[in-house]
Amino acid sequence: MAISEGVKEALERASWIRRMFEAAIRLRRERPAESVADLSLGNPVNQPPDAFFESLANEIEFRQERRHNYMTNCGYPAVREAVAQHLQARTGLPYETEDICMTVGAAGALNVLFKTLLDPGDEVVILSPYFVEYRFYVENFQSHVVVVPCRPDFLPDVQRIADACTARTKAVLINSPNNPSGRVYPGSIFADLGRLLAGVSAQTRRPIVLVVDDPYHRIFYGDAPPPEPAKYYDQVAYLTSFSKEAGLAGERIGYLALHPGMADRDDLREALPFAMRALGHVNAPALLQRAVTRLLDLDGQSARDFYAPRRALVEQALREAGFEHPPLEGAFYAFPRAPDEDDVAFCQRMLDRGLVLVPGSAFGTPGHVRLSYAVEMDVLTRGLAMLVK
Ligand SMILES: Cc1ncc(COP(=O)(O)O)c(C=O)c1O
Repeated sequence: MAISEGVKEALERASWIRRMFEAAIRLRRERPAESVADLSLGNPVNQPPDAFFESLANEIEFRQERRHNYMTNCGYPAVREAVAQHLQARTGLPYETEDICMTVGAAGALNVLFKTLLDPGDEVVILSPYFVEYRFYVENFQSHVVVVPCRPDFLPDVQRIADACTARTKAVLINSPNNPSGRVYPGSIFADLGRLLAGVSAQTRRPIVLVVDDPYHRIFYGDAPPPEPAKYYDQVAYLTSFSKEAGLAGERIGYLALHPGMADRDDLREALPFAMRALGHVNAPALLQRAVTRLLDLDGQSARDFYAPRRALVEQALREAGFEHPPLEGAFYAFPRAPDEDDVAFCQRMLDRGLVLVPGSAFGTPGHVRLSYAVEMDVLTRGLAMLVK
């Protein structure tokens, strides 16, 4: 076979997930739309903000030469400067234009970062439940993930993370608001994690980078925005995108930001544009870079207003059906416990009823299932009505 052994092996490892998705596709083909509810995907259905459409309309007016050409690999300096100022305002830290790289979504940012950081045999600590793709991104660079389970309440077990770090650990990767658990990590977690990682780094004489994957930053349901990890630890590579909050997942635009206090800051600044080139991203989409500049300082209220009523419906349905679940603090997922701890059997049973969920095993956490409420209201209410233990 022409495909690589690595890809073959990854496809095999994930084959039962594929079978589940194929079953869902079959279901949608075979049954009337009104008897199927797909709550499996994190594909946002909120409309992009008005400012986005205004920017697109302005683009039509400008027929300047070379407006749609290549640019410096990390993006337009003016856009990167705007991101640096935005992060300065959020964190009080002196981010500079050169610390910012505009990327092809959060996924592109993770790959660009790993290209700059990872040597074959390096380790990246990830927390379960984890975003399915993390493993593949790390393996792209012949490195390995080390999976550390979260506590039963789905917050990170900070001591266990520190204990899992070895002389080969290059990075610890976290995501909050979290996909799939829906939890938002409090500041105390970052304070403890920063302190412990600084201690381990001093012992191994190798700075451990805390990679903060933050595409759900403004989708939270508490009173205050999630804490800023960069305030608690210097070695933070922060990345986010406009996919979720601004409903622009298909447009592929995000950014990566190096903490101003990072070790080897100059080397990293030089390496990022190289990684953009070497991976063939070249630069993030030009038009989108310009369009999202106006979205940087929006407060995310419209996305929260959009998802909050859906969240309330999910919370009520889970309570009434008697499902245990972590609190729905952010993003647009619920992660209830499956009856009898058998997530795959439960998903199959729900599939037979017409409801598509994702087994927790896909996120390295059997015994739970993920339900996404990033769907139209009618799909959500239909799906929740099918949900029984
Ligand atoms: C935790 C997490 N990280 C990264 C991504 C990728 O986001 P993007 O579409 O911006 O590449 C996703 C998308 O679902 C996600 O849930």
